[in-house]
Amino acid sequence: MDTNKPIKVLIISSEVAPYAKSGGLGDVTGSLPVALRKNGVDVRVVMPKYKSIKNEYFIGCKYLGSYETHLSWRKQPAGIIQKDGDFTTYFIENNYYFGRDKYYGYDDDNERFAFFCKAALEILQFIDFIPDVIHCNDWQTGPLCLLLKEYFNKFADYKNIKTLFTIHNMQYQGIFPRYTLEMLEISDWCFDSVEFYGSMSFMKAGLMYSDMISTVSSTYAKEIKTFQYGYGLDGVMRSRADKLCGILNGIDYEKNNPETDKRIYVNFSIDSIEKKKQNKLELQKQLGLNQKDVPMISIVSRLAEQKGLDLVSWVAEEILNRDIQLVLLGTGEKRLEDFFRDLAYRYPDKISTNILFDDTLAQRIYASSDMFLMPSLFEPCGLGQMFSLRYGTIPIVRKTGGLSDTVTHFDRNTKQGNGFVFEHYTSDGLLWAINEALSVYYSDDWKYVVKNAMESDFSWNTSAKKYIELYKKIINCD
Ligand code: GLC
Repeated sequence: MDTNKPIKVLIISSEVAPYAKSGGLGDVTGSLPVALRKNGVDVRVVMPKYKSIKNEYFIGCKYLGSYETHLSWRKQPAGIIQKDGDFTTYFIENNYYFGRDKYYGYDDDNERFAFFCKAALEILQFIDFIPDVIHCNDWQTGPLCLLLKEYFNKFADYKNIKTLFTIHNMQYQGIFPRYTLEMLEISDWCFDSVEFYGSMSFMKAGLMYSDMISTVSSTYAKEIKTFQYGYGLDGVMRSRADKLCGILNGIDYEKNNPETDKRIYVNFSIDSIEKKKQNKLELQKQLGLNQKDVPMISIVSRLAEQKGLDLVSWVAEEILNRDIQLVLLGTGEKRLEDFFRDLAYRYPDKISTNILFDDTLAQRIYASSDMFLMPSLFEPCGLGQMFSLRYGTIPIVRKTGGLSDTVTHFDRNTKQGNGFVFEHYTSDGLLWAINEALSVYYSDDWKYVVKNAMESDFSWNTSAKKYIELYKKIINCD
């Protein structure tokens, strides 16, 4: 490889912020390209053009034309819209597949994302860009690795393209009927490589047919090789262990800066940390909580089993008996939504439950709270704890995945540590960590934890460089 030429990378994702985001995946694929570009990579991104993407994003975009993508007997048009900005994004337009209310959850998700993967490969014929590496993300993009190796690789333009498959969450795998292979026009003898209990797994297709695999923290890279975290694919991970690595996600430190962020009530820094309290008072006012200086513990999360909210539900009443306030923001499983709504009904002055998706409110919560609760059952990386650290809000987390790579338990002797960490998924573990946090909160040591938190660096700088090293390694492998 000519080392003077910029590396060319095409990132494929079903979510890219700010256009479409249902969780951390969108945040990552929306901010990694910016960091890669700053480091000299020629990076472009491909995503579906969903109905929900605001029209204003398409003002000034170029419509490059359309082509026909074949899924067995079905032919569907793929339009290409190019948007330039911090990085170039190509939207694949097809109203039949993507002109729907939600991103996922339809009976034909296999066909929708098979189409997306095939169209994303075919797009190269129209955009004058042959990447060195196609960087796929999560199950929605798994078939691309399969299609490239088993079909597109025969053609000159595609022959040298390598793939990286990044796992953001092993729990969601895209399991579909066997005939999905036929839809992809891939012969059935490949079935064994993508088989999962008699069905086809899109995730497994990505794991088996990519040149390298990464996940979003070193600890999660180890965990997914075990029965407890592998969701049935731990054997596959062990068999491909030599191709697997962990690179921690970063967050955008410019957009998420307590000194300049316009979304929060009052800007502050480590040197004007007393202003953080003003944010708390404003948030209490906005949410209808008593305006007083009590420890505020917050949760900003998808309401799902993964995030440890069952654990929170077991100890919620006990926590609320203390002199604290609890603020929750997020949507998700109905049983959890109902639980937290009911709690707010019973403890109106102690907990504010907000079952919605609101970026500004999220930011205000990060800026205003004292502690951020994230007791996940498993956590590939986790971004919430990084946002909260950036705003001097102290994470209370379980020692798993990316949480254990970013949060260290505060030691009152050495004054080291940026949060509170417990190990076992039990009520006792969680209560112990909350008690630890509260006792430090009421001591002189709190200022050290806050300082350590705000001085932690989880910007993209380091991680983008690690991706570039990995891309180079992939380009040079056979
Ligand atoms: C998923 C994971 C989360 C990770 C994010 C981005 O949402 O659950 O831990 O931070 O992807 O990689």
